[in-house]
Amino acid sequence: MYSFSYFASMTRSLNHSVFTRCYFLILFSFCIVSADAQIRNAPLTKIDAEKAYQNYQQYCALCHGKEREGNAADFAPSLRSNSLMSTMPLNFLASSIGFGRPNTAMAAYLSDSGGPLTMKDIFTLAIWLKHESGAQTISLPLKPIDGDPVTGSSVYQQNCTECHGEKAEGITAPALANPAFLAFATDEYIKYAIVNGRDDTEMSPFKETLSDRQINDLTAYIRSLTSGWSPEPKELSPYPKPGEYVTNPNGKHPDFKLIKNRYVPMAQVAQAIKEGKRMVLLDTRTTSEWHNAHIPGAIPIPYYITEDKVDEGLPNDETWIIAYCACPHAASDKIINMLRKKGFKNTAVIDEGFFNWINAGHPIIGGKPE
Ligand code: HEC
Ligand code: HEC
Repeated sequence: MYSFSYFASMTRSLNHSVFTRCYFLILFSFCIVSADAQIRNAPLTKIDAEKAYQNYQQYCALCHGKEREGNAADFAPSLRSNSLMSTMPLNFLASSIGFGRPNTAMAAYLSDSGGPLTMKDIFTLAIWLKHESGAQTISLPLKPIDGDPVTGSSVYQQNCTECHGEKAEGITAPALANPAFLAFATDEYIKYAIVNGRDDTEMSPFKETLSDRQINDLTAYIRSLTSGWSPEPKELSPYPKPGEYVTNPNGKHPDFKLIKNRYVPMAQVAQAIKEGKRMVLLDTRTTSEWHNAHIPGAIPIPYYITEDKVDEGLPNDETWIIAYCACPHAASDKIINMLRKKGFKNTAVIDEGFFNWINAGHPIIGGKPE
């Protein structure tokens, strides 16, 4: 409305025929732009946009990059590629943030799942991401794609395993077999990504190298990996209190040998736990992940905690403080850097990270006390 009357008053002084032409031209382009903007982006106020930007920098930039370019840590995907942002519906985008992708470094951020953000924060963030990307929404058909999953499996083995893994579990690229991904990704969404790739990322378009038939078979194969998923309401357990932070308060200090003055091999930590050594374990992942499972005795100090709160209740003496994340380093490094800046001496990061800790069979527990 503002720009409308502004243009009208601006053109009033012009001669009539120019005025009429200008007026219609401006009105016409204004209508196109606003109609397009409405389709492309749900409304976003300046305050909401500012809040979303801050939330993005605090919670997401660590892995997805300050400019949403992806790959800052953990092979997190780009959140600004036209291919992704034009085809990922808002509810899919918001649920990826709210519920995460279980068993990947992408955690659940929704407060109901034990994360730090409200539903409104998450939707605002999702709308802001779309808005910032400038991508135009493409409405893809919902109809399933007809293809042969068996042929698709061999096309997959020949072309995709190097990045997505033999079982589509994800290596340097997203886990295509992830149940939360497949619960939302339609066949056409998957096909579009294969055909067009994701601009400015390692995912190149396959439309030149594979036939339409092969891509349909691939899509059918990926679809066949669906195992069923829906977000479950979670019972959240209370966080440990400062008096409970030290594991084995009466034990001896462990004798850790660090790599590059920072990283401790997980075998040394597992051994120290077994021997009842005194230490503090920090789970630096999103709090929802701590609720899912953590190393026994670990306390949640997520990577997005502010510097003034990071050391609340932590002993600043000889006690070893060991951080871990899934990344395996990015989130932990951030917390350990803050602590070292504050003068904490015996600090380290578990080198291999939490997923390798689980795979090696070391102990974990759920958030609820057993
Ligand atoms: C610790 C690293 C990390 C942080 C922090 C993180 N992500 Fe992710 N994110 C990932 C990874 C890794 C994936 C890919 C997971 C997979 O294998 O499917 C991902 C996937 C996604 C996806 C799906 C994209 C796609 O191509 O399918 C979205 C959307 C997303 N993240 C948004 C966010 C937002 C918004 C935040 C902040 C609230 C955030 N992420 C924080 C690591 C992270
Ligand atoms: C060189 C590595 C590489 C190869 C090979 C590769 N991809 Fe990807 N793929 C990626 C990366 C990286 C992404 C995430 C890009 C981003 O958004 O940042 C991706 C994204 C995707 C997505 C979108 C996932 C999502 O969460 O939206 C699909 C679907 C996909 N790839 C399918 C395939 C298939 C099928 C093949 C084999 C024909 C293949 N890719 C081969 C690296 C690769």
